[in-house]
Amino acid sequence: MGRSGLICAFLLAVCCCSRRAAGVPGEAEQPEPELVEVEVGHTALLKCGLSHAQGNLSHVDWFSVHKEKRMLIFRVRQGQGQSEPGEYHNRLSLQDKGTTLVLTGVTPHDDRIFTCQGKRRAQEHRIRLRVYKAPEEPSIQVNTLGISVNSEEPVEVATCVGRNGYPVPQVTWYKNGQSLKEEKNRVHIQSSQTEESNGLFTLRSVLQAQVSKEDKDAQFYCELSYRLPSGNHMKESKEVTVPVFYPAERVWLEVEPEGMLKEGDRVEIRCLADGNPQPPFSIIKQNLHTREMEEERTDDNGVLVLDPAQKEHSGRYECQGLDLETTTSLQSDQQELVVNYVSDVRVSPAAPESQEGSSLTLNCEAESNQDLQFQWLREKTGKLLAKGQALQLHNLKREEGGGYRCLASVPSVPGLNRSQLVNVAIFGPPWMALREKKMWVKENSVLNLSCEASGHPRPSIVWSIQGTANEQDQEPQSVLSVLNVLVTPELLETGAECVASNSLGRNTTIIFLELDSNRTSNLSTSTVSPPARANGTSTEKKLTEPESKGVVIVAVTVCVLVLALLGAVLYFFYKKGKLPCGRSGKQEMERNTSI
Ligand SMILES: *[C@@H]1O[C@H](CO)[C@@H](O)[C@H](O)[C@H]1NC(C)=O
Ligand SMILES: *[C@@H]1O[C@H](CO)[C@@H](O)[C@H](O)[C@H]1NC(C)=O
Ligand SMILES: *[C@@H]1O[C@H](CO)[C@@H](O)[C@H](O)[C@H]1NC(C)=O
Ligand SMILES: *[C@@H]1O[C@H](CO)[C@@H](O)[C@H](O)[C@H]1NC(C)=O
Ligand SMILES: *[C@@H]1O[C@H](CO)[C@@H](O)[C@H](O)[C@H]1NC(C)=O
Ligand SMILES: *[C@@H]1O[C@H](CO)[C@@H](O)[C@H](O)[C@H]1NC(C)=O
Ligand SMILES: *[C@@H]1O[C@H](CO)[C@@H](O)[C@H](O)[C@H]1NC(C)=O
Repeated sequence: MGRSGLICAFLLAVCCCSRRAAGVPGEAEQPEPELVEVEVGHTALLKCGLSHAQGNLSHVDWFSVHKEKRMLIFRVRQGQGQSEPGEYHNRLSLQDKGTTLVLTGVTPHDDRIFTCQGKRRAQEHRIRLRVYKAPEEPSIQVNTLGISVNSEEPVEVATCVGRNGYPVPQVTWYKNGQSLKEEKNRVHIQSSQTEESNGLFTLRSVLQAQVSKEDKDAQFYCELSYRLPSGNHMKESKEVTVPVFYPAERVWLEVEPEGMLKEGDRVEIRCLADGNPQPPFSIIKQNLHTREMEEERTDDNGVLVLDPAQKEHSGRYECQGLDLETTTSLQSDQQELVVNYVSDVRVSPAAPESQEGSSLTLNCEAESNQDLQFQWLREKTGKLLAKGQALQLHNLKREEGGGYRCLASVPSVPGLNRSQLVNVAIFGPPWMALREKKMWVKENSVLNLSCEASGHPRPSIVWSIQGTANEQDQEPQSVLSVLNVLVTPELLETGAECVASNSLGRNTTIIFLELDSNRTSNLSTSTVSPPARANGTSTEKKLTEPESKGVVIVAVTVCVLVLALLGAVLYFFYKKGKLPCGRSGKQEMERNTSI
């Protein structure tokens, strides 16, 4: 144990003595009151601890002691309880054969001493009733105005409120999980409480602190600790961060998108600083020729938007930031911006033309700040014909006329390319897309007939029939003519011919028109047909006309032959005189021939 142990024991003894001396005067030995703990709203059981030797429990008076005032609240006479009028009326009853006083609906006001007393005053048992209530979840409110690191005094960081607790809970503040303690000129914690009419307390604690730049992401929260009959507990608030203002030390420039830029891209140049708030910036570009720095126009957010970026935007850029608090100007490093480009693509000759069977060379040119790659593509199919600036075409066939595209691209900058289309014209007479074609038509309908011809020089088209013609250019050496016609019986008979011609010759397409039998069978119900045609029989006749023509011819021939034979027979009988040539006979003969 040693000397320190002895001193301890001595101190303890002194302590105990002084405590006893401070007890109620007159009472020789008043023991510590018995402790009973209960939560607000619950029921407290107050057991009268008098032994039978000390008194008869069928005769007991209960008192509440508050601020040195004793008040009779309950009597027990012959084992029967009786409530006294006052604040405890209706809340008290007896239990366990009258040994226990039951107090319901405990409130913070019941936090006091109760005594039970036998017939004589000396027979007294004291009970300390302690009342508890957990505070609500603490709410925290951060100082949204923020704190400057240059502030000379601690500034409010946040306020923590814990409502309706009993007794007043303890508050602890934390920063990044570490508890904060009072520190002169650095950390102040001011807590106050208000008592509600129901006796519960609302605690309000304000944390004030001086902050540094490192505190910009610091998480602050408060914790309430309190006691319940079950033991010690605590509740934590949410975490908050307070805006921290600090001057910038460095300014820099950011370009988006990152990586290689090309003409046509949308490019944003913005300035950034390591201060909070961001200082006002200006973006400055060095003039390529004069070498002077010139301020660029930025948008409202201080961002320079190049949309679309052009090769003229290439150059050296820098940012300037002005710290408003210290009025010092900060400057970023210069940054080189390169907008990669490909110039217009030029093909020579610009309008190539050639004879069938001869050769042709096409040349392609373009400029770029990067290495270029050239490709020749057939326009119609997209097929790659050659790599390199020159395209050689030998023994040209007329099918090889048409579009060729030179594509100049920069392999090192994806998507950077430009191209030029050139049309190769091959001399020749018109060439028809179709020599002849058949169309299924409906009589009296309006119809478009089309005819396409190609050749060099470009052919012109005329039609063999009347109608409104409409010409559309296809490729430079090709023309499409559309003729709008009404389908008449004459047109059905003749068909249509389209004649294309140029200085080297002419060519034709023949269009045959046939009645669409599917549609014709529906003509009887069609409103577009004229009334005469709506007659079912006449339509049928029309429909069968081509087939019946032969039958009619045969019938007529047969008739003529029969008549001739009949004539010969009649003549024979007439010559023989066997034929009666009276009126009635003539009539008979007429009747026969009309059969
Ligand atoms: C207590 O008092 C009652 C009457 O007042 C009596 O009937 C009872 O016997 C007494 N009990 C004791 C243990 O003295
Ligand atoms: C050419 O550029 C366009 C966009 O500008 C891109 O979509 C295309 O893939 C590029 N073609 C080549 C062959 O690089
Ligand atoms: C007319 O065009 C056809 C192709 O539809 C072609 O076969 C024919 O040779 C051409 N005639 C002349 C005289 O060019
Ligand atoms: C015929 O062509 C003209 C113009 O080319 C178009 O407006 C019309 O709709 C076409 N008619 C038919 C029946 O295709
Ligand atoms: C008639 O219609 C049928 C189906 O509806 C079709 O297969 C056929 O080709 C058509 N005939 C003509 C001559 O259009
Ligand atoms: C006849 O016309 C009607 C409506 O007008 C249509 O539903 C039907 O398919 C047509 N029949 C034929 C064979 O075209
Ligand atoms: C159709 O022809 C018949 C006889 O050929 C005639 O009786 C009828 O009136 C005609 N109908 C119309 C709508 O012309």
